[in-house]
Amino acid sequence: MKIDILTVVPDLLESPFSHSILKRAREKGLLQVNVHNLRKWAINKHMQVDDYQFGGGAGMVIMPEPLANAIDELQQDGKYDEIIFMTPDGKPFTQKTANNLSLKENILIICGHYKGIDERIRQRYVTMEISIGDYVLSGGELAAAVVVDAIGRLIPGVLNDETSALFDSFQDNLLAPPVYTRPADFRGDKVPEILTQGDPKKVEEWRHEQSLLRTRERRPDMLEE
Ligand code: ADE
Repeated sequence: MKIDILTVVPDLLESPFSHSILKRAREKGLLQVNVHNLRKWAINKHMQVDDYQFGGGAGMVIMPEPLANAIDELQQDGKYDEIIFMTPDGKPFTQKTANNLSLKENILIICGHYKGIDERIRQRYVTMEISIGDYVLSGGELAAAVVVDAIGRLIPGVLNDETSALFDSFQDNLLAPPVYTRPADFRGDKVPEILTQGDPKKVEEWRHEQSLLRTRERRPDMLEE
């Protein structure tokens, strides 16, 4: 899978994909992430990519030309399956969206900044608008990092134990059960016996029960869905 990211602050995206699981995915050639500085497509020698909004009001808006020129040029290497704009007024990001996106081959993510991007780019180019939560970040970069992380780890072959993503919270509309490691007795707090008795069927039942309990307690809305 190839993911291109368009941003005015590429430095913000230097580290998130260079560690741990996503680093391995890139090294294995399963994931390619290219961060592009939108200023490469600036409209003048002052590197301008934004301007005041029509109708007045505080905050700059990213102009349509740099974005359109960037998308047209990048798309010469292959048409995007999805052009995503990160924005707080987008569709809330869920595990289901991550699952669907992990099956795509070629994605572009546009990070907004300032007041956002010119509406005409949203109308003409963007195929999907994503919000990572009901709060406003200073730009779309951290949100894009969240989305790339969530989908990158789902690409087949990325996780060592491929089945492990199947048991993540949200994959079956339940939160994940608690997990324990050594020591079996930590300052008097013991690991639930069932986990140390070696009966896989009982362990599975216990985990499912714990998932249900946890979901009912913390996210009853998920059980109503
Ligand atoms: N840009 C600013 N805030 C955002 C959010 N909550 N989700 C996605 N992109 C954003």
